[in-house]
Amino acid sequence: MTEVTAEWVVVADDVAIVSCQTAEFWFVELGAHRAMLPFASPMTGEGTPGSTAGLLDGAIALAFSGGEREPHRFTSLARYVFDLAGAYHNARRTPGHFRRAAKRLRGLGRPEIAEYLEFHAREETGHDKLVLKDLRALGLPAERIVANLDHEGVRPLCAFFDALVEVAYPVGCIGYSYCFEATAALKGREEVDALTALWPRTLDAARFLRTHSGLGSEVSHVQDMIGFIASLPAADRIEIAKATYATALLMAEGLERVGAIPDSAILARIEAAAGEKVHLQA
Ligand SMILES: [Fe+2]
Ligand SMILES: [Fe+2]
Repeated sequence: MTEVTAEWVVVADDVAIVSCQTAEFWFVELGAHRAMLPFASPMTGEGTPGSTAGLLDGAIALAFSGGEREPHRFTSLARYVFDLAGAYHNARRTPGHFRRAAKRLRGLGRPEIAEYLEFHAREETGHDKLVLKDLRALGLPAERIVANLDHEGVRPLCAFFDALVEVAYPVGCIGYSYCFEATAALKGREEVDALTALWPRTLDAARFLRTHSGLGSEVSHVQDMIGFIASLPAADRIEIAKATYATALLMAEGLERVGAIPDSAILARIEAAAGEKVHLQA
């Protein structure tokens, strides 16, 4: 008989995300059957890359399944700039936060996690600079815009990231990062091309986008991350999956919030941040 590896985690509202090594996942409502289901108790077994990927991707899918949470599609250059400025605040935090978490985990006798976090911190170093270059390429006062445009799409996420690295055992920050990397890796050629068509071909304002898409380094970052997380004990994988779920919920809420702002208001917010009238070539 073939052995089946299952992984699971219970998230808010009493729902278990269950996955197996083919990377498939299911949502199981525990409800009245709680006592009869094995998923009510924390998993204790080993992970596999497939089941761990299923667990984490299930966490993202569950968080995005509520309400009107359609995957985000940029529709205007103003919205692109707004989101890019938001991404800066997350990218700027990542290397420092990962190094801080690494230091704590090393002190707690988890050198392998610390090493991974330090490695990932190096991979992510300089990504905030890509945002500044992109904004400059569009003729915008990059530093002023990012300094003044710390908006509602990203602020709750950054606050959550800050909190995750401050806890006594900060392994959850890997789940936070997984959510960003995995959702970015889903952006394919079509989406990247549609966005780069928003500005003249002579400009390059897509450095951050390309890097954080299926065309850039995100695909390999996600693969590495899955391999690493799968090798961790069950208690760590549970923490990481919970953090991925919480991050995806905040991300979905942020996208909804920003999606509800009209383009004209987005442009006005960019101009207020820039302190000047801006001309965005459509
Ligand atoms: Fe990055
Ligand atoms: Fe990355």
